Amino acid sequence: MKILGIETSCDETGVAVYDSKKNIILTEQIYTQASKHAEYGGVVPELASRDHIPKLLPLISMGFKEANLNSEDIDGIAYTSGPGLRGPLLTGAALARALSLGWNKPCVGINHMEAHLLVNLLEDPAPSFPFLTLLISGGHCLLIKATDVGEYEILGQTRDDAVGEAFDKVAKLIGLNYPGGPEIEKMAKEGSPFEYDLPRPMINRDHLDFSFSGLKTAVYYLVKKQKSLNREFIANISASFQNAVTETLVKKCSKALVNNNLNQLVVGGGVAANQYIRDTFKRDLIGVDLFFPKLERCTDNGAMVAVAGSYRIQQSNLESSIKIRPRWDLSEI
Ligand code: KG4
Ligand code: ZN
Repeated sequence: MKILGIETSCDETGVAVYDSKKNIILTEQIYTQASKHAEYGGVVPELASRDHIPKLLPLISMGFKEANLNSEDIDGIAYTSGPGLRGPLLTGAALARALSLGWNKPCVGINHMEAHLLVNLLEDPAPSFPFLTLLISGGHCLLIKATDVGEYEILGQTRDDAVGEAFDKVAKLIGLNYPGGPEIEKMAKEGSPFEYDLPRPMINRDHLDFSFSGLKTAVYYLVKKQKSLNREFIANISASFQNAVTETLVKKCSKALVNNNLNQLVVGGGVAANQYIRDTFKRDLIGVDLFFPKLERCTDNGAMVAVAGSYRIQQSNLESSIKIRPRWDLSEI
């Protein structure tokens, strides 16, 4: 089965074709709008919606050409129907539905977080159910026990900011560009992770929830005290912040693995692209089978939607209308 996946939940226009028989991606195309939003310090939903529209069809054509495919080869279309920004979601949903009608192929709306989770099944070796999943993105921080495709138990989540959101907000406070995650990672290489003793909220609590807003506030007060934001300060704050976040994530994952008697940890979402987090997880979670997607499949992409779509289309609860759910908990799947 060959599935076309379309991702437009935020500021990435991603399309890909997944071959479920071979478990490979035949083509994937991505266009990122990040530079368009950088001057505003975050994603502007209206700008994002408008920018997806002219990019979608050319990206699909380019992908088809690259993989020598045409519409006849496609068995179904999957698009992100939520969670995400309403306008951007509608652009992908409308195109998917139009293609589905024009090509007479089934069409299915996909939960964006499930797509971040399932994209790991492309890896070799792939995790096998049941496993623990940590999803860390711009909008979410979730610890999930996945027992099968579509069977997810949320064990913990953020009570305020998502991890990526905290990276983006701290970056803004210290004068770095949007998106803040990669900028902080870059600056952190020049700094010391132990220079500032930042809080690790809820790290020793029994529950598996997270909180990152206090960390951001602590950075805010350090910045306020500083006469000038020189490079050394920015580097040290970046390294200390990244270290505090990483330590919190490691501790909570460790606890969740033990509590649930699991030995495999799948990490996904844009923040999973962070090499410091990857290296620290490998160093500290001894004896745990760790799975990270390829770097380019951590941030939003069409491949993850195509993979999730292949499972959903086989379940045949397909739609005949355009559906989006800007708010959509994994537990409601
Ligand atoms: O999954 P994603 O592309 O979009 C959402 O679903 O939100 O994640 C985007 C988030 C942004 O907050 C961005 O700053 C963060 O992922 N991010 C990173 C890195 N690359 C992207 N955070 C830390 N380190 C990175 N290397
Ligand atoms: Zn995402």
